[in-house]
Amino acid sequence: MKIKLFFEKHRAALLWTLFAGTIVVVFLLGLLAASVTERRAEIATLFNNKRVEIKGIESRSEIWGENYPREFETWKQTAGMEFKSRHNGNGITDILEERPDMVVLWAGYAFAKDYSAPRGHFYAVDDVVKTLRTGAPVTEELNLQPATCWACKSPDVPRMMAEVGIEKFYSSKWSVFGSEIVNPIGCADCHNPENMNIAISRPALAEAYDRQGRDIGKTTIQERRSLACAQCHVEYYFKGDGKYLTFPWDKGMSMEQIENYYDEIEFKDWVHTLSKAPMLKAQHPDYEIFMMGPHAQRGLSCADCHMPYKSDGAIKYSDHHVTSPLLNIDRTCQTCHRDSKENLIKYVYEYQDKILETRNRVEKELVKAHIAAKFAWDKGASEKQMEPVLKLIRAAQWRWDFAVASHGASFHAPVETQRILAHSLDKSYQAQLEINKILTGMGVKEEIPLPDISTKDKAQKFIGLDMQKLRSDKDNFMTTTVPQWLVKAKENKRVL
Ligand code: HEC
Ligand code: HEC
Ligand code: HEC
Ligand code: HEC
Repeated sequence: MKIKLFFEKHRAALLWTLFAGTIVVVFLLGLLAASVTERRAEIATLFNNKRVEIKGIESRSEIWGENYPREFETWKQTAGMEFKSRHNGNGITDILEERPDMVVLWAGYAFAKDYSAPRGHFYAVDDVVKTLRTGAPVTEELNLQPATCWACKSPDVPRMMAEVGIEKFYSSKWSVFGSEIVNPIGCADCHNPENMNIAISRPALAEAYDRQGRDIGKTTIQERRSLACAQCHVEYYFKGDGKYLTFPWDKGMSMEQIENYYDEIEFKDWVHTLSKAPMLKAQHPDYEIFMMGPHAQRGLSCADCHMPYKSDGAIKYSDHHVTSPLLNIDRTCQTCHRDSKENLIKYVYEYQDKILETRNRVEKELVKAHIAAKFAWDKGASEKQMEPVLKLIRAAQWRWDFAVASHGASFHAPVETQRILAHSLDKSYQAQLEINKILTGMGVKEEIPLPDISTKDKAQKFIGLDMQKLRSDKDNFMTTTVPQWLVKAKENKRVL
């Protein structure tokens, strides 16, 4: 009643405020559209003045750099390692060292061996070669991973796919292409050299669109300024024995829709060594989560914040130093928000802090669920009794991973991310309650013992990893096999 009266009384003022607000938003989006269109003319001029003709899939970005020195010079800056924000940055951060609970969450899976925060695109190939997750394939028999693991690391990937065929590429062993995949994420990953338009070089994205009945060729420029990134910054899995890279989007892109897709085909990435739950590993659903957030809903694309325009005299170009937008608030947030740098940073940190507060709780309870499940198995619980528990653990950990694996989610879509984590916490508790019921039913009165997993080393020992062996095998691989790959790559002019 009161609200209604208030509305009647202030009707005119409210309508005017609403009207003015709408004008402002429309104006801002208009500016965005105009600036994107105006850019097309500049790109045409650039294109007509190019110095070398690029044909086919040229994975050596240095060659493109001859034609487009500004984009090339800024692209090289992705090698920078100095920037650090409160929760992210472009240096090397050993996440397992910081959060040893994660070792237990991934027991039985390669991520428990080694997991670092992402750094710049420049290091994509180095990092996949160095990580313990790819093992030490000094011979092809010792190969743990499929070639699919190269998929989001290099423009040599579409080049090799064109050469050997897409299916053959995925079904090969990872080390087969060691001397071929040598250039980090570069121009050919995102551009067609014939017109410099954004081009989708990864079949998995186009195939996912096809299965949804959408045509990726009919997307707008603004959509492509995100789709370029969605080739890699998405959730995916390796389908079947052919390890065919597939985006699980057939039912939609929300956390639940992707889970339904996996449940329906009874997919699992691995079986957890403690709880025996059939687990899913979320990769990095940056794109899916971003699309649910306030900025995507206002029509923004990844490039608006991660590749802001930069000026060089009269020339305006896209900054190809893809990194945290907090590095250049004046050219990212402040192009749209009339707010101080301090306030804008504060908004980002507040979202992140609040969400990570929930994450910390979730991780503790998830670890307890795995350990309690193992305890129940050890006490003789039956498969039938444990079935609902394992389902809950799988669902709880999927939610946790989906929310945290993409390192930008807590800013990109804070409400959605917090919602997903809330469900994870709920399911972690439900799993523990179920286990307690089973134990009570079996007459077990002991407390469930919790191990000391306060450091990465202790946690890795607890889950039974022989880290010394893994590390010495890797060192051997790095000093024998990898240098041979590089010599061969140089001989074949794969790198300049
Ligand atoms: C991760 C994807 C990605 C990579 C890698 C990439 N670009 Fe771009 N590039 C973009 C996006 C997005 C735009 C903006 C397109 C638009 O607004 O239409 C762009 C725009 C451009 C343009 C148009 C002018 C401008 O600056 O807006 C040129 C020229 C260009 N890039 C050159 C290069 C070169 C040279 C390389 C390699 C050194 C490269 N790009 C690597 C995504 C990429
Ligand atoms: C070909 C696959 C691929 C494409 C395309 C791609 N990325 Fe990445 N991106 C990666 C990988 C892999 C890493 C991690 C590299 C590492 O840690 O060695 C990464 C890292 C990042 C980082 C962390 C950088 C830092 O400084 O910490 C950001 C931010 C990022 N990407 C944003 C984007 C955006 C925005 C786009 C689209 C314009 C994009 N990426 C396109 C694969 C890709
Ligand atoms: C409205 C601005 C904005 C847009 C649009 C945006 N991001 Fe972000 N992104 C951010 C901010 C802010 C962060 C947090 C940076 C930090 O903590 O230093 C971030 C973080 C990230 C990170 C983690 C960086 C790291 O250092 O680990 C990745 C990866 C990323 N974004 C990718 C994307 C992709 C892919 C898209 C499009 C699907 C996108 N972003 C769209 C603002 C944006
Ligand atoms: C291209 C324009 C653009 C850029 C760049 C941009 N924003 Fe926004 N932002 C918007 C629009 C439009 C809205 C919605 C405003 C509204 O409806 O009142 C928004 C909303 C927000 C909100 C409120 C979100 C909510 O929950 O509704 C925050 C906080 C915010 N932006 C922070 C940032 C930060 C921090 C950056 C830089 C990392 C950034 N924005 C970059 C256009 C932009």
